[in-house]
Amino acid sequence: MVTAYDAFHGRLIRESGIDIALVGDSLGMVMQGRSDTLAVTMDEMVYHTRMVARGLEGAALLVTDMPFLSYQPSVESAIREAGRLVKEGGAQAVKIEGGRAYAPTVRALVSAMIPVMGHVGLLPQRVHAMGGFRVQGRQPSEGASILADALALAEAGVFAIVLEGVPGDLAQRITAEVPVPVIGIGAGPHTDGQVLVIHDLLGWTPVDRLPRFVRPFGRGGEEAVRALSLFRHEVEAGSFPDENESYSGTGPEEAQ
Ligand code: KIV
Repeated sequence: MVTAYDAFHGRLIRESGIDIALVGDSLGMVMQGRSDTLAVTMDEMVYHTRMVARGLEGAALLVTDMPFLSYQPSVESAIREAGRLVKEGGAQAVKIEGGRAYAPTVRALVSAMIPVMGHVGLLPQRVHAMGGFRVQGRQPSEGASILADALALAEAGVFAIVLEGVPGDLAQRITAEVPVPVIGIGAGPHTDGQVLVIHDLLGWTPVDRLPRFVRPFGRGGEEAVRALSLFRHEVEAGSFPDENESYSGTGPEEAQ
């Protein structure tokens, strides 16, 4: 699974055969430059989901995060807001952060025929309650609580669970005990699947801002700066565009 925020990302995921595109509320940090995800609105999630759906053309499962305070107030608000992601955005499933306390919400969404992905461990929407973005489950009691959360979500009907920011041995245990696929991020190699933020994966995020668990699989940022600098240089030098890159007075009319 890889995050996606616009049609361009959707196309990249379509062309690379990734199974799941996640319109993460991480877009608040990655696309909007905020320091956390809390201010992201439902309108923004709908807008970005629509864009990703266009680029994806149905090639991968499209899952969208429910943003902060769209599902926490009540089960009714969860159904109404998740419905917007499906009806207006084109999402095929939604993801919510939280454990046992959200089992009734998951049940209600699944009854309303909206597939749900769970998310336990480090929960970015709880950044203030957690005292920052901190690894979770290091104490045995915390680990047991995260496992209980994952089991309760599976029992409530989630089709998969994101497990974020926990020690690898805990992730391995949770993956073995939970009867739905567990997709890890910062949770070591022993989960059923892995998810990364597309900017981190492609090397668009500056190396000094990458979380320790991320491996950049490309050098997109470096390549983009190289190409932009070259463009600036060639325009300033008068060598772009050349004659072949201009319309002649006699050629076809189409501007392509
Ligand atoms: O918001 C997000 O992008 C996420 C993933 C990092 C799992 O929840």
